[in-house]
Amino acid sequence: MHNNKIRQCLAGFTVLALFQVSQVQAAACAPASVDKGSKLFAQECSVCHAVQKGVTGMMGVNLNGVAGRTSGTFPGFSYSQAMKDKAVDWKAESLQAFITQPQAFVPGTYMPYTGMAAAEDSAAVACFLTRQ
Ligand code: HEC
Repeated sequence: MHNNKIRQCLAGFTVLALFQVSQVQAAACAPASVDKGSKLFAQECSVCHAVQKGVTGMMGVNLNGVAGRTSGTFPGFSYSQAMKDKAVDWKAESLQAFITQPQAFVPGTYMPYTGMAAAEDSAAVACFLTRQ
């Protein structure tokens, strides 16, 4: 009887913990986060990058569909050797790491951006990029 109560209680905690983990993951790319990422992108990145398909000729490479791409592979863009050699799969985590400190994540990158200090900001931009 007593043991059953403890077991039920532990099961309850497990469910709660799982629920909290899924909440955190969902929050990482919630609509509000995409919206925030979009604004930050407009302020910090759009001077060099477009997210609309087909726009080229800017200093930075086109970022339409960047999530799922390997770094340094957009056809026709002249990347640094460092970005090609990095050959990272762009997804939310790697994008956030790069945005946080480009020169630390890809030493020798041509991207002249010092980085985004606040983790919730870089996460929002990464989240926004995964939707483009
Ligand atoms: C002053 C211009 C400039 C700004 C501002 C800038 N970038 Fe870049 N970005 C570049 C250049 C140039 C490259 C190519 C880097 C290389 O080849 O090493 C690049 C590369 C990238 C890549 C790699 C893409 C690929 O195809 O491998 C990503 C992702 C990226 N930038 C995201 C961002 C984000 C997000 C921001 C804003 C927080 C930003 N950039 C701000 C110029 C810029």
